[in-house]
This record gives sequence, C-alpha cells and structure tokens, in this order.
Amino acid sequence: MHKYEKIWISLGTASLAVFLIILGISAVHGGHTPAASGIETINPEHVREDARFSEPGLKKATDGDHDYDLYFLASAFMYEPGEVEIPAGSTVKIHVTSPDVVHGFQVVGTNVNMIAEPGLVSTYEMTFDEPGEHLIVCNEYCGVGHTDMTSTLKVVNGGIANE
Ligand code: CUA
Repeated sequence: MHKYEKIWISLGTASLAVFLIILGISAVHGGHTPAASGIETINPEHVREDARFSEPGLKKATDGDHDYDLYFLASAFMYEPGEVEIPAGSTVKIHVTSPDVVHGFQVVGTNVNMIAEPGLVSTYEMTFDEPGEHLIVCNEYCGVGHTDMTSTLKVVNGGIANE
C-alpha cells in the first residue's frame, strides 16, 4: 500500500473513533434519551382516575404565572371537553394526553399544535387575546373516526359559563 494512503486511512479511522467516543460520553453524561426531557409521564390506563383528567376542562391556575389550566383528553374519536370557553386576554396552559393511541391537538389559527401521546402529558402556554372561535382538530391519523375528532375553543369577552 502507498505510504500516503496508509496515513489517510489511519486518520479517517482515528477521527471516526474520536466521534464515537464523544457521542458515547455525551450520551452517558448528558443523560440523552430518545424521549424529550421535562415532559410529564402518566399511566395511560389510569388517566381517568387522575383528578385533572377525570373531568377535563378549564380550571383556575393554582401555580405558575398563567391564569388558567386547560385539560384535554384526546381519545378515539373525541376530545373532552367537546367545547370550552376561555376569557379573552387570559393566559392558558393547555395540557393534553391520550388514554389510547397517538392523536393530534391542533388549535386552528393559533400556534398550538401538539401530539397527544399515551403516557405523556403535552403542554403549551398561550395567551388568547382575540375573541373568536377556534376549531380543534386531530392531525395524527388515529383510525376510522379520525376526521370526526374535533372540539371548539371559544375565546369570549366578559364572564365565562364554565368557571
Ligand atoms: Cu385522533 Cu386522528
């Protein structure tokens, strides 16, 4: 083998080894895992026994700097609640999970677009300033009733019925 060829092959092998070592170290020390960190886990079989998801809907926030917590359960093939009103101008932290399969949670016309995954609680905080009606749709194919999965989020001025 040519001398330079040998040198380049060993350089290539050495840099590959270095990259793998760095990757290995960062995986162990950084605790990198396939699941995203900071996401709450929940047993999907007992979701309905959880006080927040047994009667999902809008609740006054008890901590954090948002005004309300809005709990949504996405299941085949419906959302609970099927309709919700929130006061215009309020900051709402939306929590969504699924007791069965993977669903989507998109609030049309807003930045809210989450995955409702069994075993995880997805959250998103958002201030709804403009009064109006938003359709909530499932954007992950989940079965025969996929296209029927909707809910309505109403941003209203003044008092709300479900407080
Ligand atoms: Cu639920 Cu598609």
